[in-house]
Amino acid sequence: MKTLALPDYEAAIAATRDERMRWWREARFGMFVHFGLYAQLGRNEWAMACENIPPQEYEKLADTFAPKEGCCREWAALAKKAGMKYMVLTTRHHEGFSLWDSKVNPYNSVNYGPHRDIVKEFVEACRENDLKIGFYSSLMDWHHPDGGICAYDNAARRRFLDYIQALNTELLTQYGKIDILWYDVPEPLQSWEGWDSLNRNQAMRALQPHIIINDRSRLPEDFGTPEEHINPSERDWEACMTFNGVSWGYLDSKQAAAYSYTPQRIVAMLNTCCERGGNLLLNIGPMPDGSVPQEAIAPLEAVGQWLAVNGEAVYGKLEKTYGNQNQANGVSRPSTKGNTVYMWNKIWHPVNGDMALGGFLNAPRSIRFMDGTPIDFEKKGDRILLHGLPEANPDPILGIPLLKLEFDEQPQYRFASYFPQLNRGLERPVI
Ligand code: GLC
Repeated sequence: MKTLALPDYEAAIAATRDERMRWWREARFGMFVHFGLYAQLGRNEWAMACENIPPQEYEKLADTFAPKEGCCREWAALAKKAGMKYMVLTTRHHEGFSLWDSKVNPYNSVNYGPHRDIVKEFVEACRENDLKIGFYSSLMDWHHPDGGICAYDNAARRRFLDYIQALNTELLTQYGKIDILWYDVPEPLQSWEGWDSLNRNQAMRALQPHIIINDRSRLPEDFGTPEEHINPSERDWEACMTFNGVSWGYLDSKQAAAYSYTPQRIVAMLNTCCERGGNLLLNIGPMPDGSVPQEAIAPLEAVGQWLAVNGEAVYGKLEKTYGNQNQANGVSRPSTKGNTVYMWNKIWHPVNGDMALGGFLNAPRSIRFMDGTPIDFEKKGDRILLHGLPEANPDPILGIPLLKLEFDEQPQYRFASYFPQLNRGLERPVI
């Protein structure tokens, strides 16, 4: 198949991006699953490299790898319950062990350990729960003999690139429609040319024409991947976050719980993603037997309950809004759908039933709670003053009540009206 030169390729994928990514942009929230031999060590998925474990010693983990039957269904059921719309599984991490029936890589979960095709089980579980399917595929490989020398030896590079292409071809031809190809760590080769990504990614798209590809094969492709921080950008982006800020792979739950996100922190991350036009891919690192780590269950179920009530402020086409001018008070951030603004109140702070939302230049025609209960308000200068609010936090699930402001025209903001120098859009201060 004749491949396109880079400018033509990028123009071609840009032309189909809106159609290919519509579901992804509206999905907002996905589950990342880091599962592999490293789960048995419980000391981060990089243990092999960080602890300089000799490959022959590390390979013994393949024989003791024993994910229980149905573990993929457990992950998918929790993702569904949490209000997540897609999942991404590490089909083969840097350790080089394939979780599928690979004819290219004998170091896999059918030849060793469970003697099962975990990727197949994962795909089935996603489809049973109406979740879109993402395959994580590491470029870096600590097991393959050419995984390191490929950057110093052309013959080794060609062999290794053929290997990577064959692995990904198996993944994109053996399991039906796949929605996301999630590359990771393009090391040691330092350029897209070195990785031959232009040719490989065109071949992958030919196999799965609707597929979405991330930016970690040293080409921008379809979306950016800020990691462990929520860093918005003009392009499509997805913040991938561990559940604890420590490890993607399994950690002892008793100790990991001390670092793990509360449901409120997860909703706060979702709020930023919704406000600024990105997605949240939140990770779980299943236990050695494949069980969901205990510390992730209750928070994700609570987030799902909250989303069941407030999901219209999260899912679907949202406007990208930026910066302080949208901050109607110090503890609330919006998400915006057309001319409707949802103010996410991380703190509920009415004083004698009153609360102010600054920054709005035009008044909404209505303000309601998400259950439709109307809220009395008045426009006063550059503020909207709300009255008659309950002292008790109206959100019984997480204490993060949303206010729904419906405008007849696009809401106009001005932040810090009395300090115009702080306003975005004015000429830059000269001193
Ligand atoms: C980093 C880590 C890798 C993890 C990935 C997830 O690349 O090296 O272990 O899978 O982040 O985004």
